[in-house]
Amino acid sequence: MFLLDRSRPVWICFLFALLDCYLDAVSVQLSYSVAEESNIGTVVGNIAKDLSINVQDLEPRMFQIVAGSKKKYFEVNLRTGALFVNERIDREELCGNDPKCSLSVEAVINHPLKLYRIEIIILDVNDNSPSFLSKTQTINITESTAAGAKFLLKRAHDADVGKNSVNTYKLSHNEHFSLATHKGDTITAELVLQKSLDREKQPVIGLTVTAVDGGTPAKSGSMTITVNVFFLF
Ligand SMILES: *[C@@H]1O[C@H](CO)[C@@H](O)[C@H](O)[C@H]1NC(C)=O
Repeated sequence: MFLLDRSRPVWICFLFALLDCYLDAVSVQLSYSVAEESNIGTVVGNIAKDLSINVQDLEPRMFQIVAGSKKKYFEVNLRTGALFVNERIDREELCGNDPKCSLSVEAVINHPLKLYRIEIIILDVNDNSPSFLSKTQTINITESTAAGAKFLLKRAHDADVGKNSVNTYKLSHNEHFSLATHKGDTITAELVLQKSLDREKQPVIGLTVTAVDGGTPAKSGSMTITVNVFFLF
């Protein structure tokens, strides 16, 4: 009987705690943004201020950030209420090519128990350069090929998104070819023959195409093109 009498209030307390959790856990949605690769300690925002919690209450009410992932990307300074970067954030590792990238964390405070949902948008920085999967491309052209003929070039890839991705292509200076670029979902480039070729004069033409992204400062990557000029049989 003693046991039952003692356990009953505990059980009720537990029920109340659960109810409390359901009723009081107002899911206040806070949203912040931070650039990927920000230094550890970078302040994202003042969470105490934005949640209207007194800074002095943070420690006694055991305010804490609950990570939605294995890594604890964000922590809170219990003296100031500042939410800060706690781990290196690599947008490409988290979201790949997805143009939108965000992390969800939860903040918990006790007495009374409250749960807050916080979304942190990870902004892309231009930390990747465009690069060609293969650093060389060979194009075989017969001498008789008329000016205006086009030759599709291999595409460059850039792990960054938006303007930090491949924005344009440039061709090394030469007297036979120009470059035409086409913007669709991705940007593609073609060599356009400007002047007919002469195998006796130049059997092999070496060119360099450079992919440039739209970041500030811009990053680039190059590929070598070898044009073999053949006789027409
Ligand atoms: C170009 O011609 C050479 C010699 O005939 C051949 O080995 C090579 O595969 C050709 N390359 C392309 C891309 O057509």
